[in-house]
Amino acid sequence: MPFLSATLDRVKPSPTIAVSTKARELKAAGHDIIGLGAGEPDFDTPQNIKDAGIAAIAAGKTKYTAPDGIPELKDAICAKFKRDNNLDYAPSQVSVATGGKQILYNALMATLNPRDEVIIPAPYWVSYPDMVLLAGGEPVIVEASLDTSFKITADQLEAAITPKTKWFIFNSPSNPTGAGYTWGELKALTDVLMRHPQVWVMTDDMYEHLVYGGFEFCTPAQIEPGLYDRTLTCNGVSKAYAMTGWRIGYAAGPEPLIAAMRKVQSQSTSNPCSVSQWAAVEALNGPQDYIATNNEVFKRRRDMVVDMLNQADGVTCPMPDGAFYVYPSIAGCMGKTSPGGNVIKDDEAFATALLEEKGVAVVFGSAFGLSPNFRVSYATSDDALSDACTRIQDFCASLQ
Ligand SMILES: Cc1ncc(COP(=O)(O)O)c(C=O)c1O
Repeated sequence: MPFLSATLDRVKPSPTIAVSTKARELKAAGHDIIGLGAGEPDFDTPQNIKDAGIAAIAAGKTKYTAPDGIPELKDAICAKFKRDNNLDYAPSQVSVATGGKQILYNALMATLNPRDEVIIPAPYWVSYPDMVLLAGGEPVIVEASLDTSFKITADQLEAAITPKTKWFIFNSPSNPTGAGYTWGELKALTDVLMRHPQVWVMTDDMYEHLVYGGFEFCTPAQIEPGLYDRTLTCNGVSKAYAMTGWRIGYAAGPEPLIAAMRKVQSQSTSNPCSVSQWAAVEALNGPQDYIATNNEVFKRRRDMVVDMLNQADGVTCPMPDGAFYVYPSIAGCMGKTSPGGNVIKDDEAFATALLEEKGVAVVFGSAFGLSPNFRVSYATSDDALSDACTRIQDFCASLQ
């Protein structure tokens, strides 16, 4: 009898965590490494939020809580959905979990039966397909292309839907491309979904607040009220409030689904960290002005990185609308050889050679389901970004 679960054979470890780990190891061994793999803001958690966490500890709010969140946080989440998305949810329709990741995981575990299909546009956040597989479902990948700025079309969505489709996972602005769907583009997708009442929408709005240059965020239930009863609107405090380590994510949707997710959570982590929940109350209810301040920094970095990468031989880098990633194509580098003798046969070979020969850690595109590309996270200092992009330019120029 094998010791390890057969389900585990279906999934792979997170490649983004693997890249960050390798970069850290090389750095610790004394190499000059610039890591562009991080999926978290380099800003500190705002002081008012930290203070709320400290106050919660001092007040003894350090015990188990309700499995899917304290009432005060659920109220703050309902207020946030009304304020930002014009969506009405009652606290009984809200679930809080240990990060956005656990919210998505709970929802998939609570709903997927063997061979249920889940439509995932590519490039996708690395965890979606593996979470679907862990929950026993079948990921159905729909590839977007550079020509459509990494966004899928209504025709593509229509073609991917079958009687077995249970969920459509939607992420805008996207990790890894930063692409954001406009109101019109998203309406075209929700029109398709209105024709298929068996399909539910899991929208991952984690990067809602990180948008630049006038881009206006929108979310499916807001655009198409007809989808309200089959949409799980997922979000979290990790990215907008620089709270990745606090591990708080949340979602709102129909009560029976929320109750099923509560059941999963009550038998896994019991509840999200009590102290973090109080910090998240402050994040959502407190001042929001530093989001705009941080976004000015992110926008400046985005513009610099896109400009510098487009100057690299063989690289085409579209301008994203949000998040803190760019996802350049390296089609023009394929088949070439680096000075170190590495043949660039795919984007993994490109990323490996770039790390070994120039000390720049990026995540290769095949990890996100669309190649040949790589992902740069610009959530790091301007100096590090400028240095890294210069090294990428040198590396690309040296390819023969
Ligand atoms: C698209 C997307 N969804 C969800 C998450 C998970 O967020 P959290 O750190 O709150 O679990 C991430 C984090 O990288 C993400 O990029």
